[in-house]
Amino acid sequence: MSSTYDQVLYPSLAFSETHPDNLAALATLHGLTPPTGPCRVLEVGCGDASNLIPMALADPASHFVGFDLATRPIEAGQAVVHALGLSNIELHTLDILEFPPSFGNFDYIIAHGFCTWVPAFVLEKFFAVCQSHLSPHGVIFASYNTHPQAHAREASRQIMHAQPPGPEASRVTDGKHFLSTIRRFVTDPLWQATLDSEIKRLGARPDSVTFHDELGGAYNCFYVADFVALAARHGFQYLAEGLLRPALRPNVPPETIAELRALSQGDEVTFQQYLDFVTYRGFRRTLLCRSNLPIQRNAINENLLKLRVASPLYRVSQNPSGSETFRNGGGPGQMESNNPFLSAVLHRLETVWPRSLPLAELLPDPSAIAETPTFDQLISLAVNNLLFLRHTDPPVASPTKTNPTANPLARLQAASGTLFTTMLHTQVRFEDDFSPKLIALLDGTRPASALAPLLNGTTPTLIATALQSFYRVGLMIA
Ligand SMILES: C[S@@+](CC[C@H](N)C(=O)[O-])C[C@H]1O[C@@H](n2cnc3c(N)ncnc32)[C@H](O)[C@@H]1O
Repeated sequence: MSSTYDQVLYPSLAFSETHPDNLAALATLHGLTPPTGPCRVLEVGCGDASNLIPMALADPASHFVGFDLATRPIEAGQAVVHALGLSNIELHTLDILEFPPSFGNFDYIIAHGFCTWVPAFVLEKFFAVCQSHLSPHGVIFASYNTHPQAHAREASRQIMHAQPPGPEASRVTDGKHFLSTIRRFVTDPLWQATLDSEIKRLGARPDSVTFHDELGGAYNCFYVADFVALAARHGFQYLAEGLLRPALRPNVPPETIAELRALSQGDEVTFQQYLDFVTYRGFRRTLLCRSNLPIQRNAINENLLKLRVASPLYRVSQNPSGSETFRNGGGPGQMESNNPFLSAVLHRLETVWPRSLPLAELLPDPSAIAETPTFDQLISLAVNNLLFLRHTDPPVASPTKTNPTANPLARLQAASGTLFTTMLHTQVRFEDDFSPKLIALLDGTRPASALAPLLNGTTPTLIATALQSFYRVGLMIA
C-alpha cells in the first residue's frame, strides 16, 4: 500500500493528552468509571507509532494495537517495537475501511490528527469501528480542526492550492511563497491580519507537516456541534476536552462563562460551540463516550478525590508573611501559597515527584474540605500544568535508585537524535553533545559513580546534575 504519507514522512510525537491514563482521569472527573487496570488501546492512523510505543513500553500489562494506511511509517514503528522487544503491541499497515472484527474490543480508541484529514466516508467508518469495538465504559480521543478559526486556515490552504504550476518537489515552499505574494497586494486591513496570522502559523511548522495538512487531499473542518452530532449518530456523546485547561477552566473571564452558560440554556455542546465562537478556536481534542453513560458535570471536586496527584513544584522560600513560594521544576513558572492545606499537599508531593500520591490521603478531612478554596487552587494548578491528575503512576524512578536507568526507548533515541521520550509521555530535547552519550550509558548496569570515567571531559558533579534533571523530567525508569 502506498500513500502520500509514504512519500513524505509525517513527524510524529508522544501526545500526553491521548494517554489512556489521562483519558481515564478526565472520565473519572466527570463521574464515569472508565477501565483503569490493564486495558486494550487502539490508535487509528498511528503513523510510525511514536505515540503508541511509549505507552506500550510503560504499561506491559496492557495491549496496544496501531494501524495506518501508509507502509513506511508502520515499518519504522515495527523496527522500534522489535528493537525494544515489546510483545504487547501490534502495528499493521491497514486501511480503516478494511478493519477486521478479529481485532476485538478496546477500552480506549485514539484518533490524533485523523478526522480532519480523511474523506467523510472514512470518518463514517471510523465512528462505525468505534461503535462496534469500544468497550461499554471506554473513551474515544478524537482531534480535529474547528471553525471559526478553520475558515482562515481553509482560505490560506485554498490560496496555496491555487499556486501557479511548478515542480512537485517544491510545492510547499512555492505555496508559502505564493501566499506571501498575494498578501503583499492585499489592502483590506482585516484580510491582511488574517493572512499575516496564517503566514506566521505556517512559518512555525515543519514543511513535512504543511505538505500533508495544507497541501494534502482530504480536509474537513468542523463546528464542534456538528462533530458531536456526527458522533451522536453512532451512539456517542460529548464527554470533555482532552486537555485540562479547556476542559475545566476555558480561557475566558468567569463573567463570560456565566453569560454563555445562560445563553446555552444548560446544553453542554451548545456552550462549547459558543465558547469556540468567542475564542476563535481552531483545533479540538475531544473525548467521547457512549451516549447511555451518566456524565456528572458538577461534581468535579468530589471526583478529584478519586484521583492521584503529582506536582513538579518545589519550595524555594518561606516568606515573612507566612506564605510559601514554590517553583516549577519542570519548566518556567512559580506560585505562592497562603493556604496551609495546599502547602502541606505540595510538600508531600515534592518528596515523590515524578510519582504521585492519592489526593484523598493528602488532605486532613477531604469531606469537610470539599467546599473550601483548596479545590479551586488544586484545579488552578492542574490547568497550568503544575499538578498532574492520574489513576496510575507510570514506571518512573526516583533518584534513590542505585544503578540509574534511562528508559530503553530514550536509550535507542540517543543513537540518532536530540529528542527523547519520557515515561510521562512527553518529549524533552537535549541539544548538547554530552546528554545523549550519558543517556546511552544508563542501562542499569552501573552506579552513578562509574559514569564519569566513561565520558571524556566530564565530572561527577556534572553527571549528578544531569541525572537529577533526567529524573525530574521522567526519563528514568524504576
Ligand atoms: C495527519 S496524519 C496524523 C498521524 C499521527 N496520528 C499524528 O497525529 O502525528 C494522518 C494519518 O492518518 C493515516 N490515514 C489516512 N487515511 C487512512 C485510512 N483510510 N486508514 C488508516 N490510516 C489512514 C495517514 O496515513 C496518516 O498517517
